[in-house]
Amino acid sequence: MNEQQKSSSEMPKQPKSYWRDSVKFQQFNSLSEDIEVDVAIVGAGITGITTGYLLSKEGLKVAIIEAGSILDGATGYTTAKLTAQHGVVYDEFIQHFGIEKTRQYYESNMEAIRFVKDTIQEYNIDCDFSEEDAIVYATSENSLNNIQKEFKAYEKLGIERDFLHEIPFNIDVKGALVMKDQAQFHPLKFLQPLLQAYLQNGGLLYEKTTATNVEEGTVSKVVTLKGHKVSCKYVLSCSRFPFYDSKGHYYARLKPERSYLIGITTDTPYPGGMYINDDSPTRSLRYTTYNGEKLILVGGDRHKVGHGINTMKHYEALQQFAEDVLGIKEFKYRWSTQDLTTLDKIPYIGNITSNDPYVLVATGYRKWGMSNSIAGSLLLRDIIMKRDNPAREVYDPGRFNIDPDVKSFAKYNTDVATHLVQGKVQAPNKFDASDLPNGEATVLTVNGERSGAYRDENGQLHVVDTTCTHMGCEVEWNNAERSWDCPCHGSRFNYKGDVVDGPAEKPLKTFDTSDIENK
Ligand code: FES
Repeated sequence: MNEQQKSSSEMPKQPKSYWRDSVKFQQFNSLSEDIEVDVAIVGAGITGITTGYLLSKEGLKVAIIEAGSILDGATGYTTAKLTAQHGVVYDEFIQHFGIEKTRQYYESNMEAIRFVKDTIQEYNIDCDFSEEDAIVYATSENSLNNIQKEFKAYEKLGIERDFLHEIPFNIDVKGALVMKDQAQFHPLKFLQPLLQAYLQNGGLLYEKTTATNVEEGTVSKVVTLKGHKVSCKYVLSCSRFPFYDSKGHYYARLKPERSYLIGITTDTPYPGGMYINDDSPTRSLRYTTYNGEKLILVGGDRHKVGHGINTMKHYEALQQFAEDVLGIKEFKYRWSTQDLTTLDKIPYIGNITSNDPYVLVATGYRKWGMSNSIAGSLLLRDIIMKRDNPAREVYDPGRFNIDPDVKSFAKYNTDVATHLVQGKVQAPNKFDASDLPNGEATVLTVNGERSGAYRDENGQLHVVDTTCTHMGCEVEWNNAERSWDCPCHGSRFNYKGDVVDGPAEKPLKTFDTSDIENK
């Protein structure tokens, strides 16, 4: 291998999403006054923008407010598979919810795919859309058993399917289950014309505007961090984590996980198809068009937020897998994302609680946010327009058909309590500032408090209080993304302490570093 080949197959130094890197969006001002609309949407990801588009088409006056930048949350960092094959779930769903509700879940996701296809035609959108089969494969006897049961579930639901004994990669599989005629696309290219149509329909959009509360009444008011108010009839929480809880206890019934993606080119042609395994660790494959070539997206290695001890190891594991299975020509991108899973694996979409007729939520897509988000947008529109939607009961956040697996959530919430207590009593490292190299972080004690220090690439020290501003758990350093991550409900903060991911709304407390440097 010559030097040039060697350097191009090395992992990129900084994480960067291909989707975000290949599309530029205009910037929007933050909200600087009180306004009145019919519907206020919080969160400018795929759910917020699609729902805004749909409601503006109905003639409603809509404002979308976003704490950061548009499409810079989960949507900008997805694998962008557009499929109703959400791993192996249908056999389990039939057991827990019955065949009718399971069919409605499947149908609502297929309806989402049809909506994308129709919208592409309507606006003539070039978003690298292609129809592909979705394939879940087994490499162990246990997962083979799972996909055999799933095959039968497909039969009961009338899903078009196939069973394979091998797949076109260097992977020793026991079997693979195909869901036919699914799709993949570039989500940001798809959403660009929808956003333009939304703005042309009179839709408003504000970035860098953090919603913190809702004052409910005959007219609801979304209150922002800067104290401005958006008066409206309906409030829709379309941020990854609900910005408003309304005694729905969402923090206790959503489990946050991180997962990783790398983008590579290969010498051998990619055979097509969207693959995922049913074993652990998760491995996912798909391609997208890229400068006349194929960029292969290899994903997986999920873990609870704040529990990935050396997060770079997750990228390295994907790199090794890609090298073994495909061979890497050039290593172009790496990025990570965060997703929420609900108690029973079905998203919460609908009234935030049964006492809130005018506050709706869409969250908990369990890594299948492309079809679930669009299914969610169609459902939110139908609820507001008072139209029947057969999936309404399936996604109702108040359903509480609790899965037997809820025990694992009880354990998860016990974990939260443990972090609340243990984090405080852990003895931080004895710290000598001069020992901390550029680009690294450590935990230390400042004024008797557990704190976190990071020295940036220019040698400047940044010190934060590691107590999460949501509910007081202790954040942990994530070296791959250079962020402080909370193991309890998934809030993340950059090394300066600013919020990257909620539910936290306020930044971490920071310390003057001159005293620490001079100790
Ligand atoms: Fe809830 Fe940190 S305590 S996210």
